[in-house]
Amino acid sequence: METPLFTMRYGIPLPPQGATAQREGCKQAEQALWRAYHETEKILASLPSSILIVNGEHQIIYANAVASHHFGFENCPLVGHSLFEVLPIPPDQWNRLTVDVPSSGSPAGHPLHDGEFETHKRVYQYRLFPVALYGADEAQTGLVISDITEQKQLQDQLIQAEKLSSIGTLVSGMAHEINNPMYGILAMAEIILEETDPEKIKEYAHDIVEYSKHVAAVVRSFACYARPASGDQKMEIDLNERLIEALKMVARNPQFGDIKVVKDFAALPPLWVRRSEIDQVFVNLISNAAQAMAGHGCLTLTTRLDTDRIAASVSDTGSGIPKANLTRIFDPFFTTKDPGVGTGLGLSIVFKIVSKYEGTVSVDSEEGKGATFTVHLPVMKLGRKEAHDGVP
Ligand SMILES: Nc1ncnc2c1ncn2[C@@H]1O[C@H](COP(=O)(O)OP(=O)(O)OP(=O)(O)O)[C@@H](O)[C@H]1O
Ligand SMILES: [Mg+2]
Repeated sequence: METPLFTMRYGIPLPPQGATAQREGCKQAEQALWRAYHETEKILASLPSSILIVNGEHQIIYANAVASHHFGFENCPLVGHSLFEVLPIPPDQWNRLTVDVPSSGSPAGHPLHDGEFETHKRVYQYRLFPVALYGADEAQTGLVISDITEQKQLQDQLIQAEKLSSIGTLVSGMAHEINNPMYGILAMAEIILEETDPEKIKEYAHDIVEYSKHVAAVVRSFACYARPASGDQKMEIDLNERLIEALKMVARNPQFGDIKVVKDFAALPPLWVRRSEIDQVFVNLISNAAQAMAGHGCLTLTTRLDTDRIAASVSDTGSGIPKANLTRIFDPFFTTKDPGVGTGLGLSIVFKIVSKYEGTVSVDSEEGKGATFTVHLPVMKLGRKEAHDGVP
């Protein structure tokens, strides 16, 4: 049996006894050191990132195998080269980055500096960390550099996909808002074809002109959503008058049936707003109410003036809204209607417009009995042109 070189006690080697044993011990320690060195090298080489250590003169004093491969130094060592031969960042930027990386101590808790650069058509991300090499009396900085080219490409594709999807939302929103006035235009054009009374023909033609103007304003407002520079001009409006116009627009749709309409209006101060936006709010609320009543029931339009705000309500005696849906009805694309009937964009557009004017929309509903939507608009903000100039 071979004599062990170290006597072990409790699993710990005791110091070798005698000259031969000491020589053997040194050889073994040296071998262990080499093994540890090669293993560390192997671990560093198998990391998916490049690792560089740089001294105070910007000279590379350590580079793992991945770094040599990444930066095209496979046939000659990277060590000894200037950092700026591989990292395309200006020296003063490097100095700014490293100024608060301490020369020693653990990186734990130290704010690390991250950055990105492009070289050889690849994108890299780097992270700096402080290094304290044994025996070195000057500051060294470590860098972990990872190739993020594929990650970047994926990110760009996602941004592109997001852009396309918001264009989709924009287009469906626009189609949705044009649908109601288009029904009105179609219905009146059909009546004109049969009508013989010139006065009535003139009246319908006038409405067609008005609705077409509304469609044009809606298209303009969507275009300005994508490119927020221009848009429909603000003007003084009478909210009671706009409610009547919105009702007319929806009531032209044959599906309005024989719904009874009750108007309970209070005298209101004028509002300084974009008319087409206010029309959009009430066309959506009234058409939802009409759809909920399926051609039969009572629609009540109410306006009130509190001291500092106007309240306008649209009430119906329709199907009502189940409690579970009350928190979701304002979400874009939430609909309980069949595909092709509803897109679920109406109330989200209402919410967006009313919020823009610093107003609120509330809903009160009991399933099977109907629903009341109330829009509150601040008079102080919207009542005078000068007071409202800050609102987009
Ligand atoms: N007055 C109402 N009575 C009953 N349910 C309503 C009423 N208003 C809205 N809802 C419910 O809220 C949902 C969302 O309404 P919203 O106006 O956003 O979309 P939609 O009417 O379904 O579709 P779109 O308006 O795009 O044609 C409706 O599907 C419906 O379930
Ligand atoms: Mg709707």
